[in-house]
Amino acid sequence: MKILVTGGLGYIGSHVTVMLLQKGVEVISVDNLDNSRIEVLNGIKAITNKEPFFDNLDLRNQNQIQDLFKKHTDIDGVIHFAAYKSVGESVDKPLAYYQNNVGGLLNLLKPLCELNIPLIFSSSCTVYGQALKLPIDENSSVQPASSPYGFTKQIGEQLIKDCCKANSDFKSILLRYFNPVGAHPSAKIGEYPQGIPQNLVPFLTQTVIGKRSLLKVFGKDYDTPDGTCIRDYIHVMDLAQAHIDSIYYLISSNQKFSCETFNVGTGRGFSVLEVIKAFEKTTGESVPYKFTNPRVGDTISAYADVKKIEKQIGWKAKYSLEEALQSAWNWEKEIDKNS
Ligand code: NAD
Ligand code: WQD
Repeated sequence: MKILVTGGLGYIGSHVTVMLLQKGVEVISVDNLDNSRIEVLNGIKAITNKEPFFDNLDLRNQNQIQDLFKKHTDIDGVIHFAAYKSVGESVDKPLAYYQNNVGGLLNLLKPLCELNIPLIFSSSCTVYGQALKLPIDENSSVQPASSPYGFTKQIGEQLIKDCCKANSDFKSILLRYFNPVGAHPSAKIGEYPQGIPQNLVPFLTQTVIGKRSLLKVFGKDYDTPDGTCIRDYIHVMDLAQAHIDSIYYLISSNQKFSCETFNVGTGRGFSVLEVIKAFEKTTGESVPYKFTNPRVGDTISAYADVKKIEKQIGWKAKYSLEEALQSAWNWEKEIDKNS
């Protein structure tokens, strides 16, 4: 089997690439290194003793995509990660986000629809906003997007659904991730945030290692058991496995569906304070933190109903929150050692 992974040197793409290579799948990895480093290839090689075919390519460039599909005529499926992902940055640079996340996807969809190559798309729980009912299942309504980033995911989902409707031989799975955290157990690959991390876990690990002075806990008076926001934190290894299971399901089964949406989470919600406590318990490190004002637009509580992916694809998260946080901490120490 030959799979094209876009954004293959990024956080999630690199973990998926490792798992594909370990299964003996041939991987074509493309990335323009906008939010990743070429050294990730060394990490992938160190874990697998194999390497993907790598092309430094920009999905915004239609010619480069055409050349790629001319060079590789036997691609069985595509897992599309390449996009910008910072909610805050998307508010300041909306055009860059629409150009990259929507433009890149449009360019990619052209050959995929023409050649009927199945696609897995990285969507996000952000499409649900603050859902009225918890846990959130796939029928929960999509809320008006609160950021250009979130809107690019909604547009992406719709573009793909429209292509599947127009061509019943083109099939796709839309995966709505909840909150990916953690790193590969080898600590050879992981998340490598540029600048100041916006997400909780990388900010937390950078604080404990001493790169940041204090973790700010955004809000303490929410209507939750301990007053802090609740999320469904999923180990990146579990998330990567969900992609492997989904691409096999998409390619090898004779399913009647053309486009299906699945949540990818653990099904359990943890508050910010619970994350801090779990980190302290598992690593033995203490987390310096203080409460600050709520973050504007924050969702109060979000965790997934995962029955659909369990039943249909047979995937279920295996790792605990503690294992995810321990791996994030091991990775942070590895970054620190090499910096
Ligand atoms: P990431 O930034 O680590 O990886 C994305 C990769 O794509 C980067 O290596 C970047 O250099 C590359 N890239 C970006 N634009 C490109 C282009 N035009 N051409 C070629 N390469 C390009 O992000 P990630 O955390 O691995 O996320 C992967 C996908 O999952 C994204 O689509 C993101 O929106 C989605 N997602 C992420 C999260 C999360 O919290 N990490 C949650 C939900 C959904
Ligand atoms: C988690 C919790 C914060 C940082 C983001 C994107 C979303 C999706 C998932 C891509 C919240 C709290 C955080 C900090 C804190 N990504 N927090 N101090 O908000 O679920 O969503 O990632 O699709 O689109 O918006 O994740 O990690 O930012 O926050 O107290 O310094 O931690 O308030 O409750 P979030 P997050």
